[in-house]
Amino acid sequence: NWTTHSVVEEQVAAIRAQVGTKRAICGLSGGVDSAVAAALVQKAIGDQLTCVYVDHGLMRKGESEQVEKDFVAATGVQLKVVEAEERFLNALAGVSDPEQKRKIIGREFIRVFEQAQAELVAEAGAEGEEVAFLVQGTLYPDIVESGGGTGTANIKSHHNVGGLPDDIEFELVEPLRQLFKDEVRMVGTELGLPDEIVHRQPFPGPGLGIRIVGEVTRDRLDLLREADAIAREELTAAGLDREIWQCPVVLLADVRSVGVQGDGRTYGHPIVLRPVSSEDAMTADWTRMPYEVLARISTRITNEVPDVNRVVLDVTSKPPGTIEWE
Ligand code: XMP
Repeated sequence: NWTTHSVVEEQVAAIRAQVGTKRAICGLSGGVDSAVAAALVQKAIGDQLTCVYVDHGLMRKGESEQVEKDFVAATGVQLKVVEAEERFLNALAGVSDPEQKRKIIGREFIRVFEQAQAELVAEAGAEGEEVAFLVQGTLYPDIVESGGGTGTANIKSHHNVGGLPDDIEFELVEPLRQLFKDEVRMVGTELGLPDEIVHRQPFPGPGLGIRIVGEVTRDRLDLLREADAIAREELTAAGLDREIWQCPVVLLADVRSVGVQGDGRTYGHPIVLRPVSSEDAMTADWTRMPYEVLARISTRITNEVPDVNRVVLDVTSKPPGTIEWE
C-alpha cells in the first residue's frame, strides 16, 4: 500500500526523531538520490541541514555549476562547496584496481565531510555537539549490491555503503534505503523538485574515477570529460534522454590500438559507449539506439578528442556485465 505521500510523512517523522534539534550535513553529488534525500531532510529539519558539495575533480563537464545553481535555486538549501580535486587525485595516484579506487573515494568523501562538519560547528559556535549526522541518498539496490543484503554476494562497493571507512564518526541518516530509483523519483516530484533534477540520469558518486579503466590522472579525466560531453550532447539532441536509463562513457586508458588519421598512423585509446535500458539498475539491457546517432557520436569523438582513435559499443546486458565497467 505504497504512496509517495505516506513515504514522505513517515520519513519526515523518522528523521525528526533521529536528528532532534541537532545539525546534519548532506553530501550532494548532483544525482537524483542525494537531491531527494536532501529535500526530504530539509522538509524535516529545515535550517539544521547544510548540504556539502565536494568537487572531487571526477565530475562531468558543467556538472559542478549545475549542482551549485539548480539545486540551490530549487530548494533554497544552505550549500557549502568544497574544492577537493588535489586531494582526490593525490589519493588515487598509482591506483588501477576498481575496488581500491572505490574504497579510496569513499574514504576521502568521509574525511572531507568530517572537516566540513567541524567547520560548520565552529562557525555556528556549537562546539560540544557530540553526534554528527550525515545524510546519504543510499537506495535499496546500493545496499544489496554492496553486499549488505542477506545472502547476496558483494558485487561492488558503492561509495556510500561498502566504500565507507571503518572509523566513520557520523551517524548516518538514509531515508531512501528501502526505495528503488523509480520510487525515489516519485518522492522527489511529491517534494516539488523540478523535472531536470528528478529525471536526471543516474551518475555514480565516484564519478569518472570508475570510468577510466586504469590509473586516474587529470589528463585522462580531461579527455574523458570531452568524450562524455559529446555523447551527452548528441543523445540529448536526438531526444533519447528518457529512453536511455544512462550511458556511461568509458576510457580504456591502458589499451591502445592502431589507427589512421589525416595521413598518419595513430596509436590511441578506445572510448566505450555503454547505453543501457533499465527499470531499477539491478538488471539492464543494452539500448538498441539508432545507428545514425552512434555514427555522429563516433565521428565527433574521434575528430574532437585528442588521443582517441576508436569508439566501441558495449552490447552486454546486466547480468553478466554490470552497468559501470568498474
Ligand atoms: P552497476 O555498475 O553496479 O551500477 O550495474 C548500478 C547503478 O548504480 C550506479 N552506481 C553507483 N552509484 N555510487 C553511486 O551513487 C556508486 O559507488 C555507484 N556504483 C554504481 C551506476 O551508475 C548504475 O546506475
